[in-house]
Amino acid sequence: MLGLETSCDETAAAVLDGDNRILGHVILSQDVHEVYGGVVPELAARAHLQKVDSVVNEALERAGVALEDVDVFGVTTGPGLIGALLVGVCWTKAVAWALDRPWVAVHHMEGHLFGPVLEDPQAEPPFIALLVSGGHTLLLYVTAWGEYELLGKTRDDAAGEAFDKVAKLLGLPYPGGPAVQRIAEDGDPERHRLPRPMLRRNQTVEDPAFYDFSFSGLKTAVIDLTTKLGDSLSDEAPHVAAAFQDAAVDVLVSKTLRAMRETGCGRVVLGGGVSANVHLRQEMERRIQELDAETGPRSVHHASLRLSLDNGAMIARAARFRFEKGESAPLDQNAWASLDFPGLRDGSRGITLPKT
Ligand code: KG4
Ligand code: ZN
Repeated sequence: MLGLETSCDETAAAVLDGDNRILGHVILSQDVHEVYGGVVPELAARAHLQKVDSVVNEALERAGVALEDVDVFGVTTGPGLIGALLVGVCWTKAVAWALDRPWVAVHHMEGHLFGPVLEDPQAEPPFIALLVSGGHTLLLYVTAWGEYELLGKTRDDAAGEAFDKVAKLLGLPYPGGPAVQRIAEDGDPERHRLPRPMLRRNQTVEDPAFYDFSFSGLKTAVIDLTTKLGDSLSDEAPHVAAAFQDAAVDVLVSKTLRAMRETGCGRVVLGGGVSANVHLRQEMERRIQELDAETGPRSVHHASLRLSLDNGAMIARAARFRFEKGESAPLDQNAWASLDFPGLRDGSRGITLPKT
């Protein structure tokens, strides 16, 4: 199985064997965007086009297989930047057609859901999934692969987007998440108090905001704080970063714990770029101890760094799941900037879900 990912600013490919072992794995991060402080879609598409052949070839070489040895191709068809997605989708369709092989369309966020299980056999359903990336923030109850109950989502900015915007305010480079995390290590999170949007102690599961997130208010609070700090911002930046990271992580962890309590599911899986955040991982580990014993055994699962950020292996793994379910895509299949999460429903299994 060859997985290809070109939805944003990483050109990534990976080869899995029949037991889902990673044989070859390559991620090329585009540095062309650095000077702009964010991803420029047109430049991303062009960079994918220039590099896609060499990235795939390198992944095949590391795997010790030829292109003709690939049985099935998987590629991200959405959501993402349309020009960027089209490079991967057109490449895959052309090769699948030329070699007469099936290919599978993969939803990027379902890919992230499959990242952790590549390394950790315990990251299997049922689990609560917190998917946090640059474009999405989703809290899911995964009862089985392919069966996803939407508990909460962001109403405005995604968690990673908030990290990126705060980084920009603090004069840090793109992508912002790792940079904010780095300077927050030297900061005191208590020195400035920032709000916890949509998190109030007295919320009940009937409250539509019980599981949902909002990060744009937090970003505005950081803007106000940086304006107030004026010239002292450069000295205060680590404290501001720490206060922001603390607030964002508090909300993410608190809502995940709510989902664990309501469903009685003790396993949590973290996916997406923001799941690389060390504070998020540590706080999740620490605070699951707050849960009552009736949740049963509690555990947190996440991928290593290379499988948390966008990569081809998670796409290949999700493609295998879809292919084994009998799915393959036709040659007139398109790429989509926005795309419904397959198998996602807003319903309940003994739990009352808020209307979203
Ligand atoms: O999943 P991903 O690689 O791409 C998307 O699907 O968007 O996620 C990228 C996002 C960026 O917003 C980046 O700032 C954030 O993940 N990120 C982090 C960390 N590493 C990456 N956010 C917080 N802490 C990190 N260590
Ligand atoms: Zn992603």
